[in-house]
This record gives sequence, C-alpha cells and structure tokens, in this order.
Amino acid sequence: MKKIDLRILGIESSCDETAAAVVENGRVIESSVIASQVDLHAQFGGVYPELASREHVKAVYATVNEALQQAHMKLGDLDGIAVTRGPGLAGSLVVGVNLAKGLALSAELPIVGVNHLEGHLYSAWLYQSGSKPTPEPKFPLVALLVSGGHTELVLMRDHLQYQMLGGTSDDAAGEAFDKVARLLELAYPGGPSIQKAAMQGNPRAFNFPKARLSEPWNFSFSGLKTAVLRTVEEFKSAHKTVPTADIAASFQAAVVGALFEKTIAAAREFEVREIIVAGGVSANKALREAFRSQTEFRVHIPHISLCTDNAAMIAAAGYRHFVAGETSSLDFDVQANLSLAASA
Ligand code: KG4
Ligand code: ZN
Repeated sequence: MKKIDLRILGIESSCDETAAAVVENGRVIESSVIASQVDLHAQFGGVYPELASREHVKAVYATVNEALQQAHMKLGDLDGIAVTRGPGLAGSLVVGVNLAKGLALSAELPIVGVNHLEGHLYSAWLYQSGSKPTPEPKFPLVALLVSGGHTELVLMRDHLQYQMLGGTSDDAAGEAFDKVARLLELAYPGGPSIQKAAMQGNPRAFNFPKARLSEPWNFSFSGLKTAVLRTVEEFKSAHKTVPTADIAASFQAAVVGALFEKTIAAAREFEVREIIVAGGVSANKALREAFRSQTEFRVHIPHISLCTDNAAMIAAAGYRHFVAGETSSLDFDVQANLSLAASA
C-alpha cells in the first residue's frame, strides 16, 4: 500500500516568538521560520504581554508566507494546519489562532489546536529535510519537559498519551535560570547568559542545595534561588566582587543535577528504556552532556534550534492529532492555562 505523505503547516505565537513551519509526516522539517521578539523584551528583563501581541500581529502573516515559500509550497499543497491554542499569553495566542482559522477557511483545510507543551515533546521526532533521520523515540518513555513556564516529568505509553508524574512546586526550571540571571545582573533570557558565564566558573565553588522534595517526582527551585540571593548579598555587603562565573556554574550544576537524577530515577521506576528531554532549558549544554554521558537509557534531545519555541514542533504534534482523526472546529478558543494532562 502506498504511504500517504501529510504536510502540516504549524503556527506558533504563544509567547515572544512568531513562528511558522511546514513539516512532513510529523518528522521532516521542510521549513521553519522564527521571528523573535527577544531583543525587544530584553529591555524589560522579561516578556511584556501587550507588546508581544502587537508584534505577533505585525509578523505573523509574513512569517507564514516565508515558511510556505521556503518549503516551495502553496496553501493548496498542505494537508492541514496546526496552531498553538495554549498555554501562553492569551493576547498572543489569538493572533496565531485567528490567522490559522482564516487560512483553514479560505483553503478548506482541516485545523487542529495544539498544546504548546506537547509541541515541545514532539520536537524530539523532528529532523531537517535532506539530513539523516534521527532515531525515532519508542514508547514507553519518560519525558522531561523544561521550559520558561514549565517543568514536567511525563510518562508516555503511546502517542498523545501523557501521564503526569510530577512538576515544579514553585519556579519552572527556565524561570529559575531567568531569575538567577537577573540576580547576577546577566542579560535576558537568563538561560543562555548563565550557561555562558558558567563556562568560566567552577561548578563546585558553592554547594547550593539540589532541592529534592519528599514527593518522588516533584521539583523545587525556590530554595536554590534564595541560596544564590543570599550568597550574592553576602559578597555585596562585604564590599567584595560577586564571583558571577562561579555562582552561575554552581547554580547550573545544582539545577542540572536535580533534573538529571529525578528523570533517571523515574525512568528506572517506570521501567522504560527511552527518555526525551525537551523545552527551552534542554538547549543547556551541561544538561545535554549529563544525559548524553549515561548509557543506561536511549536519550532523545532535539537539535538546539528546536529546543526553544518554534512552529515545527507544533506541526509535528498536530500531525499526530490528524492521524488520530482529531480536528478542531473553527470556533475553538485559546486557553492561556491549558495543561498537558488536559490534552491527553
Ligand atoms: O521553551 P521556551 O523557548 O519557551 C517557553 O515555552 O517557556 O523556553 C524558554 C526558557 C527561558 O527560561 C530560557 O532562559 C531557557 O528556556 N533557556 C535556557 C537555555 N536556552 C534557553 N536555559 C538554560 N540554558 C540554556 N542554554
Ligand atoms: Zn515553549
């Protein structure tokens, strides 16, 4: 039987990146375009929601056109449209969703609203057209999803099935990076800045707490953040130079240690053989190295360009919904607080 190729246009506008992409069969990236607002928000030290939605309005149409052009396709060549419906900033989400609905209506294409978090998980399936396919994740698996707004440990027994094992009881991992970067007066976004500063520092200079909670699969980063704050204040009140690189390296080691150890423990407990690490924080070199250096599990970490927000991951997740026969009607709404469990 001839295999039918499905080409999905993905659209993402949940936070500060306007993105569009064309992905074939949930895996092959034909194009992926990202218009980033990072420089604009850097002056505020975080995402400024009102500005974000206005920038999405300005960028979204050109971004989608660019993605279609780069894939050498017209709307009529597509088989469906996938768009992020949540979680994220409501005013930003509606921009992508409204354009996606308009395109679906005019080109008579099916549409599906995708959970941004499942997009991050499905980034582990993606590879660039024309390059060697990456190994496909096999179920059951444990996924660690670490982004600016989320830290989740998820057990997946099959496509689109998410059993939430644990999460964060306070800050998300990326949020901790961003807040500690601010304490250290490093540039926004904090993750890449801390990673850069940490390269010159000693990860054993400070013994920050790794923050394990009694519940087996939960994380907490606020104690660690407070420990960093106290250390910075001690140096400042003693009129000493704050050892930024050593603090950054020790903080990063504490976060990576906690994420790595809990994920490995969960993978053992639930007797899986594969692990996915995804979301913006999975771009972190130390985290990638920790997972790559173990040989007990087969680990899938997306290419660095696919760890932070993009639309290829939305198209990849949308593909799985279309294959499962799930589409959205044209009156679906955005959901700023959508959870992954609600999409299972
Ligand atoms: O997935 P993402 O692009 O957006 C959300 O869905 O939140 O993640 C953004 C987060 C930010 O907190 C950023 O500081 C963090 O990912 N991040 C990193 C690195 N690159 C981005 N954290 C640590 N190391 C990095 N290299
Ligand atoms: Zn994200």
